Amino acid sequence: MSGNWQLNLDHTAFLRDHWQRKPLLIRNTGAGFSPPISSDHLAGLAFEASVESRLVEQCGDNWRLQHGPFCAADFERAQPWTLLVQAVDHFSAAVGELQRQFDFIPRWRMDDVMVSYAVNGGSVGPHYDNYDVFLLQGEGQRLWRLGQACDEHSALLPHDELRILQDFHCVEEYLLGPGDLLYVPPGIAHWGVAQGECTTFSIGFRAPQLSEMIARWSDQLLLQMTQELFYSDAGRAAATRPGEIHAGDVNEALAQLQRALQQPVRNQWFGELVTEPHYDIDLDAGDIDAAREALYSGGATISLPRAAKLAWQQDSDGITVFANGESHTCGASVLPCLLILCDRRDLFGPQLDSALADTDTARLLENLLQSGCLDVE
Ligand code: SIN
Ligand code: CO
Repeated sequence: MSGNWQLNLDHTAFLRDHWQRKPLLIRNTGAGFSPPISSDHLAGLAFEASVESRLVEQCGDNWRLQHGPFCAADFERAQPWTLLVQAVDHFSAAVGELQRQFDFIPRWRMDDVMVSYAVNGGSVGPHYDNYDVFLLQGEGQRLWRLGQACDEHSALLPHDELRILQDFHCVEEYLLGPGDLLYVPPGIAHWGVAQGECTTFSIGFRAPQLSEMIARWSDQLLLQMTQELFYSDAGRAAATRPGEIHAGDVNEALAQLQRALQQPVRNQWFGELVTEPHYDIDLDAGDIDAAREALYSGGATISLPRAAKLAWQQDSDGITVFANGESHTCGASVLPCLLILCDRRDLFGPQLDSALADTDTARLLENLLQSGCLDVE
């Protein structure tokens, strides 16, 4: 367990000099580190159909990818291989705890924690990611090479699913041992090769695509805007070629469009987008009823399920809470409960009693129950 582990990092200097800009190697990230999940436990997760896992195997110049669930025989291979298990924080509280060390970056930017296990020489090949990642070395050692800056024009090897770079130009290399941490910003080529058996924890981040943001924002604008606004061309000049769409008409259309886009658009689409869960959430009406009953029967503890995505936003109208992609407008009185839930992820005793006594907070807890964002014990 890594219960006592405290990441020793100057947050201000990191955010100023490295975040989204350049890699950082942090050796011996702090006393008390030990890998929060063993390779055996990880392999066990990869046997489960409900867990997303992949296996990457290198056969000379060819890379093979297989999707889980796996069985023990899948791990008997002649070539070096790597097992990658997604969202391990959903299944292991200790792995989820790792994320707390990165809470200086808001949770909505955080992705699930991926954990890899590799045999000697195992690697997923040289590649780049579109997201920031902290690579925390668990068991064993891995040699990380950092390379060139990449983008969508960087040539990839032909493969349906793997995005392995055709060329890799090593700029720096580091041998990481247990507790060492390497931050890699988006777009920087990296290539980790296991030196003996090892596990690596990828504390990854996510960022919405601008194209997705435009889609959500314009959906919201369309919901708000009147259908009774039309292209207008009072005072137009006489047409000389009646079949022609004149460039001036197109420019006028663009100008009218720009004016329509200036209107204030409710911005809850952003929180809804960034709290969308990656995996389907199983909601059972009977379970929700039982949880509600437990909540009001006294002495309950409420907590955020490990997969829950919860965030909130405060503006002049009050608080909007985003729970697994749904938004709820609340009064400011929900804030104490929200602060505790987002920080500690649980709430009980007198703090829960006062939360339930406040009408807005009680309504919020009901909404959280309905959206799969609350466990009650
Ligand atoms: C790995 O753990 O092997 C791969 C992680 C990464 O490169 O993002
Ligand atoms: Co990567």
